[in-house]
Amino acid sequence: MTEKHLEEKLNRLLEFVDDPQKKEHYYRLISTLLEKGYFPGLAEVPVVKSAISHIDGERGLLTYRGYPVEELAEYCSFESVAFLILNGDLPLEAEEKEFREKLLDNIYLPECVSDSILHFNPNLHPMNMLSAAVLLLEAVDKDSWQVDNHRENVKRAIALIAKFPTIIGTFLTGKADFNKGRKFNSFAEYALFCFSPEHAAKPEYVKMFEESLILHMDHTMNNSTFSARAVGSSQAGIYALISSAINSLSGPLHGGANERVVRTLEAIGSADQVPRHVENSLEHHQKIMGVGHRIYKTYDPRAKYFKDVILPKIYGDEEKIKAERPDLWNLYETAVTLERYVQEKLGKKNLHPNVDFWSGLFYKAVNVPTEYFTTIFAMARVVGWTAHWIEQQDSAGKIYRPYQLYVGFDTRHIVK
Ligand code: COA
Repeated sequence: MTEKHLEEKLNRLLEFVDDPQKKEHYYRLISTLLEKGYFPGLAEVPVVKSAISHIDGERGLLTYRGYPVEELAEYCSFESVAFLILNGDLPLEAEEKEFREKLLDNIYLPECVSDSILHFNPNLHPMNMLSAAVLLLEAVDKDSWQVDNHRENVKRAIALIAKFPTIIGTFLTGKADFNKGRKFNSFAEYALFCFSPEHAAKPEYVKMFEESLILHMDHTMNNSTFSARAVGSSQAGIYALISSAINSLSGPLHGGANERVVRTLEAIGSADQVPRHVENSLEHHQKIMGVGHRIYKTYDPRAKYFKDVILPKIYGDEEKIKAERPDLWNLYETAVTLERYVQEKLGKKNLHPNVDFWSGLFYKAVNVPTEYFTTIFAMARVVGWTAHWIEQQDSAGKIYRPYQLYVGFDTRHIVK
């Protein structure tokens, strides 16, 4: 069939699809299948129907249950947005209060889990530690293999979300009782306390940390959410699927990019070295960490929020930060220059900084050790992972089992 015939046939096939966006999507899918015979990276392949979040990659819009993420970050608490993502609507005041109490009541770890965390090798990367610790929780929840009860699933999700900061804080401080005798006003305050009690005592930092958590809570069918859903589709329990999602998130092409960005900025050393770094990376076809996205064709709205709303509160007073934290100022200046170069060189290819480009500059400012950056991402994204799992268990889904194109040997036999 000639190309022209093929195009005519495709147009005829899609004649009855009214929505132009859907039409274009199907057109691209069918053409990819015809051209390549398969979908590398499952790009653009719809695998699920979900009502939790939505990205409009052309307009740079991310919504949770219909609300733009910037509005949620600016006006809502961690508790409200987590409630929204898990339940479908924003809570009433009393519901928000109850949800906060439930979270704060569930922060404590069973002794067998905290003991194990304290015995982990301190060289373990915090993301691997987090994944292992989550799995250990199954030992004290032997009914967790039952996944068909919505109320129980929501209860388990809240209890697990609550424990993330404690798992991380226990490993970071090397103390099981690091939070003992403390009362917290909000979940965000507690989460920040686990990294920096000094910053958690300042409401303006708690607000920024809360915003950063909200920005990361869900992001449609990303790699870790897909992993959670793939494991969940076999009806494995919550600890197994969340542990898998954490492992997926740890990769540098996904959440692990935030750690890589700051390490890259440190390696570049100063703003005047940026052009050399960019030229060198492009010449050697090396990706620049914190840049690019499968869905966004314009600036990532979460990155924009970090850049325009959160970071100016820290780096806006140039003289102060230069005097108090010259190392931080140098990183920031290097990042600003890197961003300019990236936009100049890669903007025309629709490659722009993503959320991981900027988030580390905030985490660094609240004294989070660099290897812990991605654990903050996980602390927020566990809300989305569990919401997707609950949605999946509520619908009669199928086990994930895609198809492969076999390219190996024909059947052959052992020669005796
Ligand atoms: N730096 C330089 N070039 C990049 C790039 C980056 N960060 N990201 C993508 N590209 C280029 C690729 O080299 C490729 O170019 P080509 O068509 O000339 O070969 C093209 O853009 C498509 O890249 P590809 O990796 O196929 O896109 P993808 O949709 O599969 O991947 C990411 C998306 C996010 C994995 C990818 O952009 C990336 O690896 N970014 C860096 C890691 C990162 O920041 N991850 C966090 C995501 S929130």
